[in-house]
Amino acid sequence: MAWATTDIPDQSGKIAVVTGANGGLGLEVARELARKGAHVVMAARDQDKAEAARASIRDEIPGAALELQPLDLASLASVHKAAAGILANHPRIDILVNNAGVMGIPARRTEDGFEMQLGVNHLGHFALTAELLPALLRSPGARVVSVTSTGRHFGTAVDPDNPHLVGRYDPWRAYGQSKLANVHFAMELDRRFREAGVPARSIVVHPGFASTDLQARSVRETGGGSSQRFFHAAVRWVGMTPAHGALSLLRAATDPNAAGGALYTPRWVNWGPPVRRPMFGRARDLDAMARLWEVSERETGMTFDVKPA
Ligand SMILES: NC(=O)c1ccc[n+]([C@@H]2O[C@H](COP(=O)([O-])OP(=O)(O)OC[C@H]3O[C@@H](n4cnc5c(N)ncnc54)[C@H](OP(=O)(O)O)[C@@H]3O)[C@@H](O)[C@H]2O)c1
Repeated sequence: MAWATTDIPDQSGKIAVVTGANGGLGLEVARELARKGAHVVMAARDQDKAEAARASIRDEIPGAALELQPLDLASLASVHKAAAGILANHPRIDILVNNAGVMGIPARRTEDGFEMQLGVNHLGHFALTAELLPALLRSPGARVVSVTSTGRHFGTAVDPDNPHLVGRYDPWRAYGQSKLANVHFAMELDRRFREAGVPARSIVVHPGFASTDLQARSVRETGGGSSQRFFHAAVRWVGMTPAHGALSLLRAATDPNAAGGALYTPRWVNWGPPVRRPMFGRARDLDAMARLWEVSERETGMTFDVKPA
């Protein structure tokens, strides 16, 4: 039987944090977790969009427990402030979905000088997860979900001497690097959970090809780059709905049988219900994971202290 939202068990009493919950896949993840009774912290940048997203869920699910938390992943100061705000209200977190992302945009820098795609897609989430870790470790079985893409196949592992691609920038090289980093982060985090003997799980997903704002934004920001326009047109024709794209994330976040270190993707690579897939090659490169961890600690100034609560 294909996995569907009807398979999500009751989430009453759970605290979930979803980044980028004001649109696209993140909004659908927030909606379904709230429908099943979770208290959802919608961590998002654009607050007008966030208000509208919350209203759209409440229209459908009047009693939904939703909280807005401003978060700009392109600013470590914002990440620290958001984490402090979340921890002040929630000493325990059960689900963290590191979903927000940008794709195929022109060379830009975050507030801290990071290349924007690595900064938002990986480094911001690295810092957020490190800050929320004590609360995650207080859960009897926390999940941290990272969101990769088929971009991981053309990405190269982060080079410690040039993580921000100085002199080598290309919008797709940067996206691929950040999406391979999402895989390496998820795998290394899960290894650390197991090494410490804590009950938390780190899981990575590829959502498939889903018609969200991701492709449109890359067209807007590049002023209409040709490959960006191709993906934008294609996703309108053959992309899944955001609700279908969100299924891999929801399965990783809620399926009692979802194992730490697993990869979930649609059955037919970019389409279909979420299934577990094996990982090969560079996705399992332990040296690359260790290098990524060192670079991420160096760039963000954050460390992970994984130990039983
Ligand atoms: N859709 C697909 O086909 C597809 C395929 C593979 C992987 N993915 C991955 O799925 C994830 C979600 O993408 P989506 O398809 O839902 O795209 P989307 O509709 O464009 O949503 C992206 C989300 O990221 C947020 N975001 C961007 N920059 C941010 C920042 N600096 N700080 C905080 N939030 C920020 C956006 O919020 P604002 O609007 O407030 O900026 C938005 O909520 C991404 O990681 C993407 O790489 C998507």
